[in-house]
Amino acid sequence: MFLSLPVTLLSLLSALLPPTYAQQCRLVRQDLVPSPDNPFPTSAPGSGNVTTGSGSGSGTGTGNSSSTNGTATLQPFKYGQQPVRGVNIGGWLVLQPWITPSFFNATNNTDVVDEYTLGQLVDRDTALQMLQNHWETWITEQDFKDIAAAGLNHVRIPIGYWSVPITPADTNYTTSVDPYIPGAWPYLLKALNWAKSAGLHVVLDLHGAPGSQNGFDNSGQRTSTPVWGANPANVSRTLDIVTFMVKEVGGLVDVIELLNEPAGFQGGGWPAAIRGYWQDGYDAVRKAVGSGIRVMIEDAFLGINQWEGFLTAPDAQGVIMDTHQYQVFNTDQLGYSPDEHINFTCTLKSGYSAYVDDNIWMVMGEWTTAVTDCATWLNGRGVGARWDGSMDVGQTFGSCAGYTGDQGGWSDSYKTFLRRYWEAQVAVAEAASGWIYWCWKTESADDWSYQKGLEGGWIPQDPSDRLYPDICG
Ligand SMILES: *[C@@H]1O[C@H](CO)[C@@H](O)[C@H](O)[C@H]1NC(C)=O
Ligand SMILES: *[C@@H]1O[C@H](CO)[C@@H](O)[C@H](O)[C@H]1NC(C)=O
Ligand SMILES: *[C@@H]1O[C@H](CO)[C@@H](O)[C@H](O)[C@H]1NC(C)=O
Ligand SMILES: *[C@@H]1O[C@H](CO)[C@@H](O)[C@H](O)[C@H]1NC(C)=O
Ligand SMILES: *[C@@H]1O[C@H](CO)[C@@H](O)[C@H](O)[C@H]1NC(C)=O
Ligand SMILES: *[C@@H]1O[C@H](CO)[C@@H](O)[C@H](O)[C@H]1NC(C)=O
Ligand SMILES: *[C@@H]1O[C@H](CO)[C@@H](O)[C@H](O)[C@H]1NC(C)=O
Ligand SMILES: *[C@@H]1O[C@H](CO)[C@@H](O)[C@H](O)[C@H]1NC(C)=O
Repeated sequence: MFLSLPVTLLSLLSALLPPTYAQQCRLVRQDLVPSPDNPFPTSAPGSGNVTTGSGSGSGTGTGNSSSTNGTATLQPFKYGQQPVRGVNIGGWLVLQPWITPSFFNATNNTDVVDEYTLGQLVDRDTALQMLQNHWETWITEQDFKDIAAAGLNHVRIPIGYWSVPITPADTNYTTSVDPYIPGAWPYLLKALNWAKSAGLHVVLDLHGAPGSQNGFDNSGQRTSTPVWGANPANVSRTLDIVTFMVKEVGGLVDVIELLNEPAGFQGGGWPAAIRGYWQDGYDAVRKAVGSGIRVMIEDAFLGINQWEGFLTAPDAQGVIMDTHQYQVFNTDQLGYSPDEHINFTCTLKSGYSAYVDDNIWMVMGEWTTAVTDCATWLNGRGVGARWDGSMDVGQTFGSCAGYTGDQGGWSDSYKTFLRRYWEAQVAVAEAASGWIYWCWKTESADDWSYQKGLEGGWIPQDPSDRLYPDICG
């Protein structure tokens, strides 16, 4: 049962979606550490000492933000004038089985496939201890220093709604997050300060919404029946959560991303719900903290051409479109040769640059150098890969050996291809407003790891270096 549902969902997605759809991805005081009794030790909103944020100030003259006084702020990032170059802090404040399989193994329960089932099936004190250990260790300040040293200028930090310490006092309704286990928020606050110290700009990304906006494990809940877009109450709750987030930390981030990967492909009322949510979310952020902070929306798997003229000036200011680019989740694209992957990527360039010319800034906010879905549990814990037939989609492509895991087992020609593919995608994204790679770090899937790419040389130490400067013409 728990295996067949997601497989059905994924097969359905493969059949229905266009080939570019994606998967799926204040200063904290030292005494404010979470505990089972007090998972949100930040106390009341606005308490504690706040330091100024990175670059969400006056920007290109659009106003200030809620940041308070403190040490020097970063210069506002000039979106559209310099390319966003960043990495996603994946698998940290929102767990994903394929990024940290050891965490899931350590539950001793194969039915724990996401944070929702973690909260349901593991003793809550034990689960919170496991999570706290993970939050403390998976990403540290050194990672932020290493990201900056790699010449990058942005981090995108995913967080789930269940980690946002909104209380009934902030709303007029109950705010239970059961069965989720909250407690990640103080780690986000630490990270925002690490980012500032390292000179990194921040996209704060709401990655999981009440009811699940896509049914992917990375929304918090792996399910074939996500309900967010079908329930106005879930959507309005999300607006309240985003409002709370920007009031709390809007001064510490450059961009608030209203929601990751809402499932426009669900059809029905979903596309309209998403459109309404982007508009209402934009208005809510502007009302709460003014115009200093940028607002990021997504194409919602509908293609950027569905968003012509949406949230553009003069009705809206400071909006960034996010589009995700993966070529590993459907059989058409898994069947591409290496050169076909490059070619397909290059075909995106003219559409991207036309979109930013006519509309708003656009960032390729998730993408990868991986060309197979072989990474263990990429399609969900216990789910196999299309590539080698361990997920049966009626077609196989070969053995997974040599494509994922540790790069020590990879051929030179594969690594050479990865470098070309990296450069092609960067060229295309920089024809728009830039890119954010998914993701910085993985436990055992080097084909997805920016950190491992730097070590292995298929990602350059300086992201402006090019071995193939004309790869997309
Ligand atoms: C804030 O910082 C001031 C000065 O460093 C200190 O006296 C005060 O106790 C701090 N307040 C909190 C809530 O940490
Ligand atoms: C901000 O810091 C500056 C320099 O320390 C100080 O002059 C100013 O009064 C502070 N502003 C606020 C609002 O605390
Ligand atoms: C997790 O468990 C699976 C199945 O027992 C095993 O194949 C895999 O090596 C384990 N992974 C880690 C990281 O412990
Ligand atoms: C999983 O099993 C190991 C070995 O028996 C044990 O040490 C650990 O506490 C168990 N984990 C959980 C979450 O129960
Ligand atoms: C909460 O407040 C909103 C706006 O004032 C109102 O529309 C809604 O009916 C209220 N809900 C409850 C449960 O009181
Ligand atoms: C989503 O909306 C439904 C319908 O109003 C409600 O029953 C459910 O509790 C909501 N889910 C969350 C997580 O808020
Ligand atoms: C910007 O700061 C000024 C002066 O502190 C304040 O009056 C104004 O409301 C702020 N604007 C926004 C958009 O936060
Ligand atoms: C890639 O595109 C170029 C130019 O359109 C074409 O000549 C070449 O045959 C294509 N290669 C593949 C593998 O599709």
